[in-house]
Amino acid sequence: MRLNYVLAALSCTAFGSSVAMTHQEDKPAEQVFKNIVSFKGSKASDVIPAMEFISASLGVKCDYCHTQDRASDEKEQKGTAREMIAMQKDINERHFNGRNVVTCASCHGGHTHPLPVPPVTGVDVRARRSADVKPADVLAAYTKAVGGDPGKPISAVSLSGTITEQGEKSPTEAVYNGANYVIKTKGAKGEMKEGFNGQAAFIGTMTIPLQFAGQHVRERAYTVSPDQLPQIPTPTGATATLNGKPMLVVRGQLANESTQASYFFDKDSGLLMRAMYSYPTILGSIVQINDFSDYRKVDGVELPMTIASHSPEGETLRHYTSIHVNPKIDPSIFSAAK
Ligand code: HEC
Ligand code: HEC
Repeated sequence: MRLNYVLAALSCTAFGSSVAMTHQEDKPAEQVFKNIVSFKGSKASDVIPAMEFISASLGVKCDYCHTQDRASDEKEQKGTAREMIAMQKDINERHFNGRNVVTCASCHGGHTHPLPVPPVTGVDVRARRSADVKPADVLAAYTKAVGGDPGKPISAVSLSGTITEQGEKSPTEAVYNGANYVIKTKGAKGEMKEGFNGQAAFIGTMTIPLQFAGQHVRERAYTVSPDQLPQIPTPTGATATLNGKPMLVVRGQLANESTQASYFFDKDSGLLMRAMYSYPTILGSIVQINDFSDYRKVDGVELPMTIASHSPEGETLRHYTSIHVNPKIDPSIFSAAK
């Protein structure tokens, strides 16, 4: 092990001449290296292993922070890393008796940008900002890909099929009308009704005030058409890869809410593949992801028959066997009582 570190140090030309490091190992770092700030007082032999640790924690190579001359402060990341080293020291001294409990790895977990949201199993929630992706063009391409009569927007859909949650598959029926929705599921424990009527959400006989935004945003997110997608007033563009395919991403804050939305569209077909909602709690945001697949032509428009929803709580699979566009709706179905 030790030999590896020594070789790494020499091979990266940390010093102008190839000083034999072994003789200098136990000197203070600042006497062996040229530009030591954070590691003042540490042993010189501890510097390279620390560098290996940092690189592995962020999932990067040495050149992420360094130019050829390792003593140079040219790269911004090196400065940030110094701040992070100080932060790590501070956290551990204040809260963990100076033991290295919280480290670069705790937050970074192999990535340069730590996730501020809880992980969603098996799903990568990262997208890259791109000025080349124009949100208006992407949304227009989506509307075109879905098809239908532009004069007759999809104001409502009714769907029936099955829902699979925690291994249990149950018949389900749903109606979405603008922001309103109602879902009925026949599970082992009897029929369950939940919905949102524009003012309050309900689950069974329990009414939840609008302030509990997460619930209705999450459910509304199952809507399947361009006209029903929650609007982002000032969207920005990004790119991402989903199941190996290139995506164009439109994202931003939803109107009148603190919820952040990201819509992933297939670069080739233009269709919506993923809607991701991140809604805040007082400690951080929770992410809900809906993956759309199995697009079919229904009443002249392309709609997804399968929606897989992922959240930190688990996975829900909705598979619809029948969808109707703009059905006749009795407004009373959106009340909890009925
Ligand atoms: C995330 C950023 C980061 C990465 C990645 C990184 N380093 Fe460093 N490196 C630093 C910082 C910050 C310092 C300055 C430490 C100080 O101020 O005491 C430093 C200092 C050094 C020095 C001392 C240079 C001098 O003469 O002052 C060497 C040598 C070095 N790094 C080698 C490496 C090697 C080899 C790797 C890859 C295995 C690596 N570093 C990866 C941030 C990084
Ligand atoms: C308490 C959590 C935490 C710890 C511990 C931590 N970091 Fe970070 N680090 C962050 C966060 C969060 C960001 C991103 C900040 C942002 O996006 O503005 C970040 C950003 C960085 C960046 C900038 C990445 C870029 O390219 O913009 C570097 C470099 C970095 N950290 C290095 C380190 C190193 C090295 C350590 C260990 C000594 C470390 N961090 C420990 C939370 C942490």
